[in-house]
Amino acid sequence: MRTCLIAVLPLLLPLAATAQGLPDGDGRAEVEAVCSGCHRTNLINRSLGYDRAGWDTLTAAMIDLSADPELQETVLDYLAEHFPDGGERPGMRGPGITVPGPLALGFETWIAPTPGQRARDPVEGPGGMIWWVGQWGDILGRIDPVTGTMSEFDLPAGAKPHSVNADPDGAIWYTGNGNGTMGRLDPVSGEVEEFPMPDPAARDPHTAEFDADGILWFTLQHSNMIGRLDPATGEVRLAASPVAGSKPYGIKVAADGTLWVACNGAPCLLKVDPATMEIAEIPLPDAGTTVRRLDIDADGVIWWVNSGLGRLGRYDPASGVVTEWPSPSGPDSHPYAIAVFGGAVWYNESGVRPDMLVRFEPVTETFQSWPIPSGDLHAGILRHMRVSGDRAALLIHQTATGAIMRVTVE
Ligand code: HEC
Repeated sequence: MRTCLIAVLPLLLPLAATAQGLPDGDGRAEVEAVCSGCHRTNLINRSLGYDRAGWDTLTAAMIDLSADPELQETVLDYLAEHFPDGGERPGMRGPGITVPGPLALGFETWIAPTPGQRARDPVEGPGGMIWWVGQWGDILGRIDPVTGTMSEFDLPAGAKPHSVNADPDGAIWYTGNGNGTMGRLDPVSGEVEEFPMPDPAARDPHTAEFDADGILWFTLQHSNMIGRLDPATGEVRLAASPVAGSKPYGIKVAADGTLWVACNGAPCLLKVDPATMEIAEIPLPDAGTTVRRLDIDADGVIWWVNSGLGRLGRYDPASGVVTEWPSPSGPDSHPYAIAVFGGAVWYNESGVRPDMLVRFEPVTETFQSWPIPSGDLHAGILRHMRVSGDRAALLIHQTATGAIMRVTVE
């Protein structure tokens, strides 16, 4: 059995962060202590607010306080009093705009067992299993969609896995964002092998993709590098981005083997030659542009989210032309995950609540969008989405609630 995260709570209390803008009142110290163990309390200020039952549901998805009912009461009373449902507060997220349209979606949802793990990046592996990582809990998780059974595998402490990919032989690979490794899980034995970085400056493997030859390519955001791991030999090679502070983030492999990388720290895309690891910059037009992720359509066109400016972008490598469209929920909507699915471009608006799933039809240049369902809550954040093996569904997730979802067009 896994150790529940509540077990670490007494350790966190003395380390409680200093005041982060929570209003005065009974319970403030308790909330600061309990709620700053995993993230800053500014997420509470940014929320749209809930009634007491809503705060109970939302916080239960992060931390189990039932062992200390008095503390739980104090925390929920404070949250419901100072951050009620509705109204306006400074710093609060803006509303997600629903764009109506012809399509209806089906959502199938599983909730990751360990609360507060920051479950993310679901991907389909061999046998139709869905894998995710619990970044803050050093967890690699698996769903059997047929039976609904969910299993959690322990990764080395401090690995802080950021993302997960399955290789064709059935092994599951994760990016050890916290301990500067790439990791491989054998799902049968549960054994984990770690592949350390050959350079101490390479600290944070982030997002990965296999190419057609089985080479695993990955980004290192804060190290400003691209990595290449050969699973046959375990050899890791690294190349530095030519753009200072570019923060390589999302990565995808084009049909010709070229790697395309999103810059989360500068207005650019990066193009990596797989043979030489030479990296070329594709500058994007507007200051303030940052790109979390990208994907590539059947014609080789690059679709990317302009997270910084709240737009959807298109780059045609053949013509060099960049085109952008304002995202429906506006400049602060922070588009984040993106995938080409069923001939259209899908992404989410993570800066607004609810977190919105958006579909863009390239032929007619029209949008349709849906709130990502989370019961009576309106939480986020979808950070990476991928298409299922049979191309019939989109795999998405929600970090605050631990939800992993399979989306189909009905
Ligand atoms: C064990 C870890 C953990 C603890 C402790 C924790 N949270 Fe969270 N919380 C999360 C995760 C994971 C997310 C998603 C963050 C992300 O993706 O960046 C989150 C997000 C949130 C959000 C944003 C939801 C949204 O709109 O997307 C709010 C509000 C929040 N937490 C409130 C609280 C409160 C209140 C407490 C204290 C009772 C608390 N959290 C304690 C893990 C935790």
